[in-house]
Amino acid sequence: MILQPPGGKYCPLIGLCVRNGLTRARAYGIYGQDNENRTPVLMNMNDKQEFFDSLADGWDLDSTAEDLERLSHVIDQVNIAPGLTVCDLGCGTGVLFDLLRRRVGENGYIVGVDFAPRLAHKARRNFPFHNIGVVEADACCLPFRENTFDVIISYSAFPHFARQDETIHRANHILKREGRLVILHLSGRDELARIHHRAGGPVDYDQLPDRRALEDMFARGHFVRWDVIDDKNLYLAIGYKE
Ligand SMILES: C[S@@+](CC[C@H](N)C(=O)[O-])C[C@H]1O[C@@H](n2cnc3c(N)ncnc32)[C@H](O)[C@@H]1O
Repeated sequence: MILQPPGGKYCPLIGLCVRNGLTRARAYGIYGQDNENRTPVLMNMNDKQEFFDSLADGWDLDSTAEDLERLSHVIDQVNIAPGLTVCDLGCGTGVLFDLLRRRVGENGYIVGVDFAPRLAHKARRNFPFHNIGVVEADACCLPFRENTFDVIISYSAFPHFARQDETIHRANHILKREGRLVILHLSGRDELARIHHRAGGPVDYDQLPDRRALEDMFARGHFVRWDVIDDKNLYLAIGYKE
């Protein structure tokens, strides 16, 4: 059931109610229908949500011009065409939004998803465009209809997802036919594990799956094909839906 927030507007494209562009799946009880235990999941996530929210003020200062240039180059390889509907999973403050928006154009649509409320708000404030929406939700329980997105891209976020298997499975469900799930980092798996270990706290043990583990996850999540690159300076995994 979809609960309409006061003053909210139902958005048929993403199947949710949108108020001022920000959809608060948690606040309005819109959660994955296949997630029986939504309250405990949110409770367990609190430390991590607070950790990321505490970084909201300085977050945008961390992206360097070099990062954005490299990102732009990699996203070109992913081939995001005009008119596509793209989900940016773990969008933070929307670092990817501009790059994605330039590619999908006026007729495309971008939905950022993040479970940290302050980051989600900031993303919305940073990008008040008619074809960008932001949803506050957990990656494992994406509250969208089947066949919604052409591409789901998760940049710098996948290791933080507590339920990676479910995330991949759910992503497959909400992708359109021949849709793609893209997991992207501008460093390799080992380097990223070191970075998280140095950061400590709730992200201390957050890791990307190794190639074999990710391939198994793609297979269990009903993807039919995948490419995985894990180099020193790039982790790029693409799962293809039938
Ligand atoms: C390292 S940040 C990257 C943010 C953004 N993609 C960027 O590159 O600036 C990881 C993001 O994932 C979000 N995140 C972590 N676990 C999540 C989950 N289970 N569901 C949704 N978002 C999550 C965090 O709130 C944070 O915004």
